Amino acid sequence: MISSPTERIARDTSHAAVYLLNESPEPISPNQALLPLTAKVNAVDHLEVGGCDVPQLLQQFGSPLYILDEHTLRTACRQYKQSFQTHYAGKSLVIYASKAWNCLAVCTLVASEGLGLDVVSGGELHTALKAGVAPEKIYLHGNNKSQSELEMAIASHITIVVDNWLELKTVAALVTAQNTGIQVMLRVTPGIECHTHEYIQTGHLDSKFGFDPEQLDAVFAFIQRQPGVTCTGLHAHIGSQIFELQPHTDLPSVMVGWLLKAKEYGMAIAELDIGGGLGIRYTQSDDPPSIEQWVQTVCQAVTQACKVHGLPLPKLIAEPGRSLIGSACVTAYTVGATKTVPNTRQYVAVDGGMSDNPRPITYQSQYEAIIANRISAPVDSTLTVAGKHCESGDIVIKDIDLPTVVEGDTLVVMSTGAYNYSMSSNYNRVPRPAAVLVHDGNASIILQRETNDDLLRYDSVPGHLLM
Ligand code: LLP
Repeated sequence: MISSPTERIARDTSHAAVYLLNESPEPISPNQALLPLTAKVNAVDHLEVGGCDVPQLLQQFGSPLYILDEHTLRTACRQYKQSFQTHYAGKSLVIYASKAWNCLAVCTLVASEGLGLDVVSGGELHTALKAGVAPEKIYLHGNNKSQSELEMAIASHITIVVDNWLELKTVAALVTAQNTGIQVMLRVTPGIECHTHEYIQTGHLDSKFGFDPEQLDAVFAFIQRQPGVTCTGLHAHIGSQIFELQPHTDLPSVMVGWLLKAKEYGMAIAELDIGGGLGIRYTQSDDPPSIEQWVQTVCQAVTQACKVHGLPLPKLIAEPGRSLIGSACVTAYTVGATKTVPNTRQYVAVDGGMSDNPRPITYQSQYEAIIANRISAPVDSTLTVAGKHCESGDIVIKDIDLPTVVEGDTLVVMSTGAYNYSMSSNYNRVPRPAAVLVHDGNASIILQRETNDDLLRYDSVPGHLLM
């Protein structure tokens, strides 16, 4: 349950109140929230998520800890689904881009909301199948799928989002040799640029992903000659962490142009997959559109483009990742050493960093944090939150205003659900944190904390070194 604004404790002096007090009477779009929707301050001045006291969770499960709020994730799934039902007259399907966070529990939860799944490797596909996700709702992406990944996809009867000529020819040869069939979508580069970090832009023509639109005639002609290959849809994805709606207004008319071309080849392509990309709020100044605004924009643009060209409405597929799971999770750390560089900076180190969240060092991503065991403490310091890794760039947050912190405090970084666990590493042989799913006061482990022995699982010492 989302607590009402009056139930939430707001203290003017509190650094956290600004995040926790949702004055809006409207149900908030999870991607616009800094904290999970169930976040509140409890009677002992601690942050609570999913009805669980965060500092207590650290005592129970250890530190650092990913804390995933079931209610927020389910709410985001439902808002996507309901928005399509409200704003689109045709069929639709929301598929979760599981690269944002792929593990058995997350796949199971998202599938239980009726969503499909986008996977990008044999490993993600294996997890999705083990989680019991229906194969007809699984789509395999990737710009360089291996032969064994393609074989796995064919054997499990999922849809392959074909990215390039080599893959198309390999898939065609495999299904012919096996005397079987496969459904494919074609990923095409739409030539639409958007404002996001250049590493996470994918829709401009100079991208490693997808067919160039110029190749479509040859691709359609080739597919027509392959009895085992059925092209069910066309796909484009323009990038990630996008706040503008304009690129998503422009994309459908480009894609409908491709549908018209397919028609010239007698191919009735029934699905249009417009990718994901809606941004989330990482900092107070971030201002992404809501899930409903984004869905309404794409639905109107697809409907309009189809109307102009007299085409029936395709089944509309969207594949959000970040905006489904990003704000559903926080990472709780324990504060350790502090260091003051006179007249320069005050560092406070936490027991994790770039191994559990590589986004700051990779994309210079910004985050917000709160001290979860003294929510109402007045803000009186500007601190730089450092990770524990042997790398100067391992800074979680630079220059954030916080209360004075002391060793043992619980520092919570917000909006860590997307591309944190999934991009985590064992750099410096630091074991990965555990993850818990919280709901109605219960916390369940969804990822065990790695141990030092886990790190040795695949180590092997050649015999001659033991002499
Ligand atoms: N569909 C395709 C084909 C994609 O490549 C992606 C993300 C998505 C959907 C989901 O996009 P989203 O809704 O999450 O924006 N590691 C980076 C993000 C990489 C995104 C890769 N593709 C980060 O941490 O910001």
